[in-house]
Amino acid sequence: MRRLRLPILLLCTALLASLPQGTAAADGPAPPAAGPRPLDQVIPAPASVRPGGDPYTIGGRTVIRVPAGSAEARRVGSYLAGLLRPSTGHPLPLTTRPGADGIRLRLGGPEELGEEGYRLHASPRSVEIRARTASGLFHGVQTLRQLLPARVEARRKQPGPWRVAGGTVTDVPRYAYRGAMLDVARHFFTVEQVKRYIDQLALYKINTLHLHLTDDQGWRIAIDSWPRLATHGGSTEVGGGPGGHYTKDDYREIVRHAAARHMTVVPEIDMPGHTNAALASYPELNCDGVAPPLYTGIEVGFSSLCVPLETTYDFVDDVVREIAELTPGPYLHIGGDEAHRTGEEDYARFMERAQRIVAEHGKTVVGWHQITGAEPAEGAIAQYWGTAGREEGVAEAARNGTRLILSPADRAYLDMKYDETTPLGLSWAGHVEVRQSYDWDPGAHIEGVPGDAVLGVEAPLWTETVENGDHIEFMAFPRLPGIAELGWSPASAHDWEDYRTRLAAQGPRWELMGIDYWRSPQVPWTD
Ligand code: ACM
Repeated sequence: MRRLRLPILLLCTALLASLPQGTAAADGPAPPAAGPRPLDQVIPAPASVRPGGDPYTIGGRTVIRVPAGSAEARRVGSYLAGLLRPSTGHPLPLTTRPGADGIRLRLGGPEELGEEGYRLHASPRSVEIRARTASGLFHGVQTLRQLLPARVEARRKQPGPWRVAGGTVTDVPRYAYRGAMLDVARHFFTVEQVKRYIDQLALYKINTLHLHLTDDQGWRIAIDSWPRLATHGGSTEVGGGPGGHYTKDDYREIVRHAAARHMTVVPEIDMPGHTNAALASYPELNCDGVAPPLYTGIEVGFSSLCVPLETTYDFVDDVVREIAELTPGPYLHIGGDEAHRTGEEDYARFMERAQRIVAEHGKTVVGWHQITGAEPAEGAIAQYWGTAGREEGVAEAARNGTRLILSPADRAYLDMKYDETTPLGLSWAGHVEVRQSYDWDPGAHIEGVPGDAVLGVEAPLWTETVENGDHIEFMAFPRLPGIAELGWSPASAHDWEDYRTRLAAQGPRWELMGIDYWRSPQVPWTD
């Protein structure tokens, strides 16, 4: 697979280098240097592109101009410098001094740019990125990054030229919510692994990381008032490995790292089902007062919090309070899926109280779409993970004001196998090849849902079979960028043939980033 390719590439390079000088040119004139990447050749596709004029070239004298008086904008400038310095070898100093040259990050611009939009204008004199917020500047920086040659991702000095095509990109997202979910419960992932994934997501303008923190197989976050949840409930994982959990400082570090990439973390505490790790940690949470053993298999739907027990709500209140305290973002996800061991009435009763508790701690509820079977609280968000697209209960809730995040399992689930040869993943929702993952419209996916009920999209990665960082990357790439594009780009930009060409150009970038991706036969990879 891919791992074999780099050595072959290196071997070819070594052979070429060993040829006598002049051999390469002996057959004719040297090929013209490739032009800069056209402004529309990025993922997600920009909302509007107006090419024109000569390119800008980043060189030894280029400065990065940041607005005075905005620490946030300055941090975006530092992030950009951190990306560009190793590969270009240029010093790229940051300055708040005004000037017409260099890479200019500027705050302000027309209202149409909104909270996350930006305008990038490149000319021989400068590349200007303008936005009303630091988040907009950050997204513009990701576009600039993709417009540069893939070798910009290398962490050692590379040959230039570092050119940006002339013209203007004006870009705003279609949806406010563009998420990726990582299940750290079935297998535990370290802070460093999560941070690396955050870095990769940022390249595609994903703005939300949903962490599935608890499940039958593991409880992954320290809760001071119920310490055995993490120490006992987090002590194993699928397959019986050692598991693990995040201390509160670990978790704050993830939140901080995400925030520095303009990404909000949505914590999920799944309940009333998917709770074996909690039930195993505290006998008093069980209706019969007996703690079940820890669980390391991959069945679902066998556990439930004890709905009639008042202790259950003390537990929910403590956990939600402590998680809310760790959460600067507005959302707290309470799961609610596959509660097969909870009767319908009990489910409704539990969800009513759990949602109230979340509201009391100042957060907005997100739940899997089964919460539409209870009474979704005002402002609640349901995350759709079905495959039919005809769930009338979900459509009715949406018509009544419940907003939706779309993660149809047969499109957006990154844990589904690509095809029958995929060594990792599951296939209960079918095989999800790259085209299947990309070729749908979130705005029209569920029958009877008004377009404006859709808050956005999310690509969940469940980890029953995913055990390490390489596995995360192999399942996420190349599907994740497609979901990111569905979340960002206008519906009018949707075009599989165009997309797969742009996707192919990401391959060399991923190689340099050390991303172990699936070389789907549906994509015309160029190397
Ligand atoms: C889910 O896949 N159970 C949300």
